[in-house]
Amino acid sequence: MDLTGQVAIVTGGNSGIGAGVVRQFAALGAKVVIAARDVERSEALAEELHADGAEVLVVKTDVASAEQVNAMVTRAVDAFGGIDILVNSAGTGTLSTVVDMLEEEWDLVMDINLKGTFLCSQAVARWMIEAGRRGRIINISSINDKIPIAGEAHYCASKGGVLMFTKTLALELAPYGINVNAVSPAGIETPMMEETLVVPELRHALLKQIPRGRFGRPEDVAKVVAFLASEWAEWVTGDTIYVDGGMHLVGEESYVYAFERAMGHEHLIPRVPFCWPPGALEEEQDEGG
Ligand SMILES: NC(=O)c1ccc[n+]([C@@H]2O[C@H](COP(=O)([O-])OP(=O)(O)OC[C@H]3O[C@@H](n4cnc5c(N)ncnc54)[C@H](O)[C@@H]3O)[C@@H](O)[C@H]2O)c1
Repeated sequence: MDLTGQVAIVTGGNSGIGAGVVRQFAALGAKVVIAARDVERSEALAEELHADGAEVLVVKTDVASAEQVNAMVTRAVDAFGGIDILVNSAGTGTLSTVVDMLEEEWDLVMDINLKGTFLCSQAVARWMIEAGRRGRIINISSINDKIPIAGEAHYCASKGGVLMFTKTLALELAPYGINVNAVSPAGIETPMMEETLVVPELRHALLKQIPRGRFGRPEDVAKVVAFLASEWAEWVTGDTIYVDGGMHLVGEESYVYAFERAMGHEHLIPRVPFCWPPGALEEEQDEGG
């Protein structure tokens, strides 16, 4: 696999999965733009990669601001002469059931996860079409684009939106030779997961639901992103690859419920039909089953 000379923008590229993608792209020879809000953290990563001879540009960007996104794309083109790859990795979440959720929480998660993906994709796609440049857009979604998790309705709705946005954009951009795909991770040890994983009960509950039996690493995701960015994935568009050690096969324990369980509040955890042992349901007993 080789990305020599390719120019890639990675939003949220100074942390977690985004930083893993930046490292992987630089190792494959790409010129990389780190588009994130915390410049100090971005510069630290850029310096590390410069030392290895990589070309890395830091542009302070809030993906929820159309003005900042458009300015970032212009700077990337000015610095590196064009754009071949966009990876939308910036994302956030809060933990709140719908009845307790603040309007501000809903807006924050939607603005960064869904609107940010739209704004960056739009700005890059406009440039690619005008320049007649073929390209790749890769959205970092989540297994919650198809698996609900209590306490994160806004996050699930945003990632479900990313899934359909990916498919629709892929359809619109296919005639221009621009592939659009998503990578849906889960259980990757990153700063976003830190608060959850430091609580032993939550860490254990989550680990139990990863069939491969370990937490993922940013590089697990970055390798699949690199594949989608490379010529090896030339004929793949509109698709979503789950990079989660098999977690989407078994569902996901809600952090809210794992917390309730740890507190001994079993009665607060709703049961879903497939959790019941055979013959335990009233309906089955009525049927003599
Ligand atoms: N870690 C996991 O297990 C996991 C699971 C499913 C999905 N994801 C998704 O992966 C992506 C990366 O998450 P991560 O786990 O690496 O977390 P992270 O917190 O390490 O990285 C998220 C990055 O996005 C940046 N960001 C947030 N808001 C931004 C904004 N408005 N503008 C620009 N940058 C902004 C943060 O500063 C940070 O750099 C997210 O989209 C997340 O939803 C992660």
